[in-house]
Amino acid sequence: MKGATLWFTGLSGAGKTTVSRLVAQKLRARGGVAFEVLDGDELRAHVTAGAGFARADRGLNVRIAAYLAGMLNRHGVLVLASFISPYRADRDACRQSISQFVEIYVRCSLDVCIRRDVKGLYRKALDGSLQAFTGISDPYEAPLAPELVLDTERESVEESADKVIAYLEQRGYV
Ligand code: PPS
Ligand code: ADP
Ligand code: MG
Repeated sequence: MKGATLWFTGLSGAGKTTVSRLVAQKLRARGGVAFEVLDGDELRAHVTAGAGFARADRGLNVRIAAYLAGMLNRHGVLVLASFISPYRADRDACRQSISQFVEIYVRCSLDVCIRRDVKGLYRKALDGSLQAFTGISDPYEAPLAPELVLDTERESVEESADKVIAYLEQRGYV
C-alpha cells in the first residue's frame, strides 16, 4: 500500500475536522486501508501542548505533524492531517519533506466561519478576549495550487468527503 498525507488546511470552522472524520469513516467501512488521523486540536492536546499560536509556535506544531505523517507514510499508512497551517512557507516545507503530499484546501469564507462559530472561538476573537486568532487577528494564506479544493459553503459534508475518496481512487492511493 502506498502511503500518502492528505493535508487539510483552512480557517477554523471551515470543515477540516468534519470532512477528515467522514473520510476516515468511509475508509474504515471499505476495509483494507491503513490510515491514521492527525488533527490540530488533538496533537495540541497530547503532543504540542506547550505551543501557542505565535508564528514560531504554529511552525513548530506543523513541523511535528509533518514529521509524524512522513514516518507513518513510510510504513504505508495514509494520513489525514487537519491543521489550519496558515503559512504557505510552512505548508511548502511539509510538501518538501513528505513525498506523497496532497494539499486539500478546505475553503469557506470568513463570514460563514464566523456564522458557524463551532466552538465559540470567533466570538472571543472578535471581542478581543482571544488573541492572534486566524482570520481575525492573525493571517491565513490560502493555498495557490492545492491538489484539491473543497468548497464547504456549497458542498455538503458528504459531497466534500466523496471528492476526497474519488481523488484517492483516481491516484491509486486506495
Ligand atoms: S496551526 O496554526 O496549524 O498550528 O493550528 P492547529 O494546530 O490546526 O490548531 C488550531 C485549533 O486551535 C484552536 N485555536 C486556535 N486556532 C487559531 N488561532 C487561535 N488563536 C486559536 N486558539 C485556539 C481551534 O480549536 C483550532 O481548531 P480548528 O479545528 O481549526 O477550529
Ligand atoms: P475545522 O476543523 O476546520 O475548524 P469543523 O469541522 O470543526 O471545522 O467545523 C465545520 C462546521 O461546518 C461543522 O459544524 C460542519 O457540520 C459544518 N459544515 C457544513 N458543510 C460542511 C462541509 N461541506 N464540510 C465540512 N463541514 C461542513
Ligand atoms: Mg478542527
